[in-house]
Amino acid sequence: MPFTPEMSVKVQLFDQEHKRLIDLTESLYAALKEDKGRISVAKLLEELEHYTKSHFVNEEDLMQKYSYSGYDKQKRQHDEFISKVAELKQSYNEGNSKVPSQAFDILYAWISHHILKVDAEYGEFFNKRGIR
Ligand SMILES: [Fe+2]
Ligand SMILES: [Fe+2]
Repeated sequence: MPFTPEMSVKVQLFDQEHKRLIDLTESLYAALKEDKGRISVAKLLEELEHYTKSHFVNEEDLMQKYSYSGYDKQKRQHDEFISKVAELKQSYNEGNSKVPSQAFDILYAWISHHILKVDAEYGEFFNKRGIR
């Protein structure tokens, strides 16, 4: 699932960040298929954790700055996602071999339910305030 123009949320920085998240999802899928082993999956989970945190802070800061009405819903979903990723990481470190495919399913659901629906809602709001 590569990043396509239809996935745009109409804010350049966030499109770039989403593209990176989608790239990470694809890397995870490749690691799964090729069974690259523990190190690369552990690295991907680490990167995913750091990266989503910084992306969420960027979105939340801009939403708060402009008093975006969807902020609470966004914040709730972001926090849930962060704890899911933390659980995956812990479960993986405890030796659960199902983690990579669970992580892929969670990311896939995140892209289709959060990025393409909930994030997509803020595009017009920010554009009207001169942010693109
Ligand atoms: Fe996002
Ligand atoms: Fe978001």
